[in-house]
Amino acid sequence: MKQTEIPVEIKNEIERLVKELNYHCYRYYVLDSPVISDEEYDRLYLRLKELEEKYNYVLPDSPTQRVGAAPLDKFEKVKHKEPMLSLDNAFSHEDVLEFDRRVKRHLGTSEDIAYTVEPKYDGLAIEISYVKGIFHKASTRGDGYVGEDVTQNIKTIKSVPLKIEGVEKVPEEIDIRGEVYMNIADFEALNRERELNGEPLFANPRNAAAGSVRQLDPSITASRKLHLACYGLGYVKGVSFSSQMDFIEWLKQARFPTPYFVKMAGSIKEVVEILKEIEQTHTSFPFEADGAVVKVNDFELQKRLGVKTREPRWAIAYKFPAHQGTTRILQIIPSVGRTGVVTPVAILEPVQIGGVTVSRSTLHNWDEIERKDIRVGDTVVVERAGDVIPHVIMVIKEKRTGKERKVSIPEHCPECGSRVVREEGEVAVRCVGLNCPAQVMERIRHFASRDAMDIEGLGEKNVELLYEKGLIRHFVDLYRLKKEDLLGLPRFAEKSAQNLINAIERSKKTTLARFLYAIGILHVGEFTAKLIAKHFRKLEDLYSISPDKLSSIPQIGDKIARAVSEFFNDKENINTLETLKKLGLSITNPDYEGDRKPLKRPLEGLTFVITGTLPRPRKEVEEMIEAAGGHASSSVSKSTSYLVVGEAPGSKLEKARSLGVKTITYDDLMEMLKS
Ligand code: IVH
Repeated sequence: MKQTEIPVEIKNEIERLVKELNYHCYRYYVLDSPVISDEEYDRLYLRLKELEEKYNYVLPDSPTQRVGAAPLDKFEKVKHKEPMLSLDNAFSHEDVLEFDRRVKRHLGTSEDIAYTVEPKYDGLAIEISYVKGIFHKASTRGDGYVGEDVTQNIKTIKSVPLKIEGVEKVPEEIDIRGEVYMNIADFEALNRERELNGEPLFANPRNAAAGSVRQLDPSITASRKLHLACYGLGYVKGVSFSSQMDFIEWLKQARFPTPYFVKMAGSIKEVVEILKEIEQTHTSFPFEADGAVVKVNDFELQKRLGVKTREPRWAIAYKFPAHQGTTRILQIIPSVGRTGVVTPVAILEPVQIGGVTVSRSTLHNWDEIERKDIRVGDTVVVERAGDVIPHVIMVIKEKRTGKERKVSIPEHCPECGSRVVREEGEVAVRCVGLNCPAQVMERIRHFASRDAMDIEGLGEKNVELLYEKGLIRHFVDLYRLKKEDLLGLPRFAEKSAQNLINAIERSKKTTLARFLYAIGILHVGEFTAKLIAKHFRKLEDLYSISPDKLSSIPQIGDKIARAVSEFFNDKENINTLETLKKLGLSITNPDYEGDRKPLKRPLEGLTFVITGTLPRPRKEVEEMIEAAGGHASSSVSKSTSYLVVGEAPGSKLEKARSLGVKTITYDDLMEMLKS
């Protein structure tokens, strides 16, 4: 249908739907305060999609245009109209005061300067260009002058407006700068998923964000939870702003996502006060901030200050003091965990790091000691980030005296004297002692821990005490403990004994997910335990399970499947579980996702490649293929079974034809999945 033939009511409806959907997107992704339900949103979205397809009328800012772009072969280059600069660093409050003195000297004034203070996001800097209010292009910073065109990818970030709305003055052209970042929680969830899939992990949220943006396939970017914080102005035509604050206010009105906060300071003294406050609070931000950016607020003054080579004179990045310290390794001792893994731990000369005394640090594994050449007596740099266990970053070799001593993998377990073995292809070394007290105590402690059976009052010290008194040799024994056993032990009086007995009693009512985590099956962490609980109604359904049945659950790899199957095929283990039930354990399973059809693998042994745009995200389709036993690959070869051809197919189609690979449609694939 020609555009002129489209009924005016339809055009109006499409326009209204686009406006409405974009507004709800803004409520949800920028303000984090939706006013309609997800279902209602989906309903409006589907209606819009239906009309767009029927009348072939798609507005440039339609939310349907965020997804569905085909993968690229390479990124095009984009020249920034105004260079994207970098920032000078300040590492102390004194450096910040010096920056203020430079600003005043340059302006020839001794009056207080007004500054803004914003978090320094540790992500990827990008520029988004709008022409006549419509999202036009997005590019990376690159070398500051020329970046890469990542338009399709940035479009998938839902908080990026496709149209400038909500303001009176819409600039003819505007280039807005900001940082794409990933929240810490989303980064951790992504890595957990990658670990289960056997994919390489991202080192930090910044790498995860950068890797997601610099992706040739936009459907992968779309599947990542990315955010944007807009903080800077590039080229602009048609409107003007008087200050950073004025610009930020405009961004907010125009529905752009802005930094977590932008604080005003009337003088450099106030800036330092704000910096002190942020230093205290930044570890509770949902994202990683490696500092704060201080900017001269007034744009006139910014212009007068100008740029020195690559950095503006009107801004500085204050970097938070790193959570690192230098100290000496007094001893390296082996420590035995609940699975028998023997890990090296460094005993340190106590050192203050970020207000906490650090006297031990994990060395992860024996290979790491070798790789970093860590020796007893070495002076080392230790880092403590957030709540994680401190670790040794590097050895300061210049400080060696020649008296340092290398350590080697112990041949015997330090706790029980059993042999220590290293399985082929593994970095971990394990104590083979079945009754190794260190392992037994660790297993009981884990069983009782908060995220497992949650037995309050049964920490490391009490487990050790009960073990040493011969009262427990296994977690099953906990359910045989009586108050009389506890009375008379050091640290236990009438009330504390009763409390512990009550806590043990309470723990008998638990969920399948908690229980699976608590019993300490190899490779089964909290996440995997929950995943299994989603797919099995009750504990008994896991008895004698086969590895195949487990690995048919998407996200469960062969390694986990084997470990879980081995556990539930061991007579001794089943006896233990049955004993626990006799002792009163009762397990419910609120995580169970209902009866499913028996898991089928209709695509077993087949390899699929996708080209062009499909009705749902490529990643989702690939997951469906994999869940049905097939293999999804990204390039066509002789061993490809089928090429799934979507809209606007790429060069893969020609390649498939030349190799004689069969081609099918999306609908064909759906049919195959059903069979
Ligand atoms: S202003 C000339 N503000 O830090 C002004 N940058 O080290 C430069 N960054 O390339 C940008 N948070 O990627 C500014 N609130 C913020 C920022 C920020 C993070 C990044 C940006 C820049 C780098 C410079």
